[in-house]
Amino acid sequence: MEKKNIDWANLGFAYTKTDYRYVSNFKDGKWDEGGLITDDTVTISECAGVLQYAQTVFEGLKAYTTEDGKIVTFRPDLNGERLENSAKRLEMPVFPKDRFVEAVLETVKANSAYVPPYGSGATLYVRPYMFGSNAVIGVKPADEYQFRVFTTPVGPYFKGGVKPITIRVTDFDRAAPHGTGHIKAGLNYAMSLHAIVDAHNQGYDENMYLDAKTRTKVEETGGANFLFVTKDGKVVTPKSDSILPSITRRSLIYVAKEYLGLEAEEREVYLDELKDMAECGLCGTAAVISPVGKIVDHGKEICLPSGMEEMGPITKKLYDTLTGIQMGRIEAPKGWIYEIG
Ligand code: PLP
Ligand code: COI
Repeated sequence: MEKKNIDWANLGFAYTKTDYRYVSNFKDGKWDEGGLITDDTVTISECAGVLQYAQTVFEGLKAYTTEDGKIVTFRPDLNGERLENSAKRLEMPVFPKDRFVEAVLETVKANSAYVPPYGSGATLYVRPYMFGSNAVIGVKPADEYQFRVFTTPVGPYFKGGVKPITIRVTDFDRAAPHGTGHIKAGLNYAMSLHAIVDAHNQGYDENMYLDAKTRTKVEETGGANFLFVTKDGKVVTPKSDSILPSITRRSLIYVAKEYLGLEAEEREVYLDELKDMAECGLCGTAAVISPVGKIVDHGKEICLPSGMEEMGPITKKLYDTLTGIQMGRIEAPKGWIYEIG
């Protein structure tokens, strides 16, 4: 199959339309058979549940070209499982995870000309999502839904690729205790938009959100979980009921323990402890691991010893091992890699 003529190495994290997308509709209590279409537009009621009350949930994963030229995706079953949980929390019907995985593989296969070549630094981002599509004017769940999957080739989430970024501790909250921070709902991102625009205006790359109740514990950023390395080489990730259970973070904890022989733990991380950390990174599908060089807490600078030039040494080992597994250079744990047939 011939690849599209795209300048893969210079792609940013932006939308490029590809040829096919998957669509399935939920009506009269059931999902239809679904299938691929070429129309990239959506026509719905002006009063659709998604437009009025933000009833929408989504996922994000990537397809990679491996060293030996295969196209693969990374743990799509976990994205399917998470979408099921997100849908339940917003009173939406579940799109079964087995069908989710099939839809993802089918959409990637149909767009294989857009999967960036091995070594290009780019990947194919896959965006499954679903939304309430029929008219809803009282505050209640929709009766009809659409599930879609589109793909877009992307480069690094942060300009500069793996160069360390500077983040600030924000006074805005992203998620309430017992709220929706643990699911991937569009509403969580809508409420982070003002905070991110403000952070950018002040010269920061991202926001560090704290727990809304006590404002003493580290939660996550608008689009990634945190990963820290202590001065004695232990990998630590924040534990909270109001952060998204990142598949990248869960995979990295496994990689740290099982591939690198490191100690790794998920526990509450206090803002006060950050000055004692050796390394910090943001982990997620889009972010992969983006190193953090500096955290600014209301004018007080916390400079990570790993500096502003490159990733810390343990973050680098984690990054190389994870991307090695995703690109087929390192043997993956059983069940992590799904080949596109
Ligand atoms: N946290 C938030 C708020 C996110 O949007 C994402 C991205 O999906 C993540 C964390 C990372 O999750 P994952 O590693 O599953 O992509
Ligand atoms: C992802 O990493 O897949 C996300 O959805 C995060 C978003 C900031 C692009």
